Amino acid sequence: MTAPVVVLDPCFDAPAAAALVDLCERFGRYRMYAEHERLDTEIGQGLSPRHDALMNFLRTGGLARAQEGPEALGVRTSYFREEYAYGRDERIDGIGTFLYHEPFVEAARSIHGRAVIEPAIAYANLMVPGQELAVHTDVPEYRGANRKLVPQWLLVVMHHSGLFDEYRMPIATAIAWFHDCDGGELAYWPDGAAGGARRHRVSYNTALVLDTDTVFHGVDRIADVGADDLPRIRPGTTLDYSDDRAWTLHAADGTELARYRWDDLRFSVSWKAYCFRDAHERDTWREHRDDLTLDAILDRLIDDLRSHDRVSGDVARDGALGQLLIDEYVTFPISTASSESSTG
Ligand SMILES: [Fe+2]
Repeated sequence: MTAPVVVLDPCFDAPAAAALVDLCERFGRYRMYAEHERLDTEIGQGLSPRHDALMNFLRTGGLARAQEGPEALGVRTSYFREEYAYGRDERIDGIGTFLYHEPFVEAARSIHGRAVIEPAIAYANLMVPGQELAVHTDVPEYRGANRKLVPQWLLVVMHHSGLFDEYRMPIATAIAWFHDCDGGELAYWPDGAAGGARRHRVSYNTALVLDTDTVFHGVDRIADVGADDLPRIRPGTTLDYSDDRAWTLHAADGTELARYRWDDLRFSVSWKAYCFRDAHERDTWREHRDDLTLDAILDRLIDDLRSHDRVSGDVARDGALGQLLIDEYVTFPISTASSESSTG
């Protein structure tokens, strides 16, 4: 079944679109995504937060199928992210227009066929030339199980296993762009991992709305930068607005690593909303009336592995089990062909 995808073109009126670019500059400093969330659990020992996507990326060389070392590949996917709003916490003036944008809400209703839409988060992704985004599905959420409590890769495993659907909170995601560029297309697989890839060209003031927890997606490389010419992006590197539409990459000690013009970058803002069937379902979630626990999640997955003869006897709940769960349940797309149809 092909997943529904709603195209918004244009997404905002002209002043609102321009205001989003101003907002991006006003926010000023962007840290690397990898630095945001770390969770210490036994099951996650030795695994990175998105171990599923990272391993697939290193194995395949990403959408470009690059034969590069882990250091270069690491720089390619170390993009910059900041949250503009989380729940009712609006962290920068003006983000409300984006968070409650009615066309997003309407599109979200149609994606999951659910009436009650609760906008949850708005965040920015900034990428510099030479970077790309590894193919992945987003981190889903369940009653009682979210990224603050359960490793991100495990939430992804849960969704791909299909074993926890009655607890899942369907989420609609809008991705809005504020550049016109040839590189950095969004590659996505609306027909599932076994289907073909489609490409969406990034153009100013457009958006796609879809279920990115289910539909695999990634971002093609932005500009052709060879491994030797990549900036030295390491933990603590920040991307900062300087002035006059210019941006500077700073190392953790403040050293300048590179300068970019706005047009060199790729800026997108993502919006996510919970999609509830009705108010009762929303209240069940809000009041924690029917929550999963990490133990219950692992019990169910281990039972499933056992029924398929993948494990036997006592099973240690450690990183090795984590790796097995990823291998067993998360099947990545193989096709990366860029010649197939584009949307928008
Ligand atoms: Fe994503």
